[in-house]
Amino acid sequence: MARIVLVSGSLRRHSVNSAALATIRSILDRRADEFHTSEIRVADLPHYNEDLDVGPGPAAVSAARELLIASDAAVISTPSYNGAMTGTLKNALDWLSRPWKASSLSGKPVALLTASPGTYGGVDAQSDTRRVLERCGAVLIDHPRVAIGNAERLVGRDGTITEPSVVAELEGLVDATITAVRGHRVPLAA
Ligand code: FNR
Repeated sequence: MARIVLVSGSLRRHSVNSAALATIRSILDRRADEFHTSEIRVADLPHYNEDLDVGPGPAAVSAARELLIASDAAVISTPSYNGAMTGTLKNALDWLSRPWKASSLSGKPVALLTASPGTYGGVDAQSDTRRVLERCGAVLIDHPRVAIGNAERLVGRDGTITEPSVVAELEGLVDATITAVRGHRVPLAA
């Protein structure tokens, strides 16, 4: 049983990024005998403060770190806020990157996607987010690169995306994640 952790960079109730992850969860749930999905909720983590980052740290932080360490891969979806990941996601990555030399992301295969109501799907947030994830020790899944544009009109009543072309893209990302989990060589991001 492989464990996949999902992380949405958005706090918004009707977030298109959370909808993309709900779609990924439904894809993985079709293979529930092979894959178990769980979620790190970035809203549960306090603002990063080194004064709080002592021993196991706040309960929500240690729970998130333990969940990630026990996982085989993570899938992160973030909006672009002015060309970068959201502050709440960066805050979560800062917590998860510590303690120094013991990042919960170290060696972890991570698939990244972005989604936006705009035409370009928040793709301009990807390069910085990849750079930060690599700094945190993650092994980025480089292909396919998924940025879901015009995403708001793609979300159905069940909170998932059913547009076949987007589902196919997300299935491709899931396949790449599974390949990484199985220990195949993962091309590193440039
Ligand atoms: C945005 N939005 C946005 N969209 C985009 O495609 N490129 C951008 O640079 C930005 N910048 C930006 C900054 C801030 C502060 C906000 C609040 C919003 C719009 C954004 O993509 C939209 O609100 C999405 O719906 C956010 O994703 P979720 O919350 O739906 O997942």
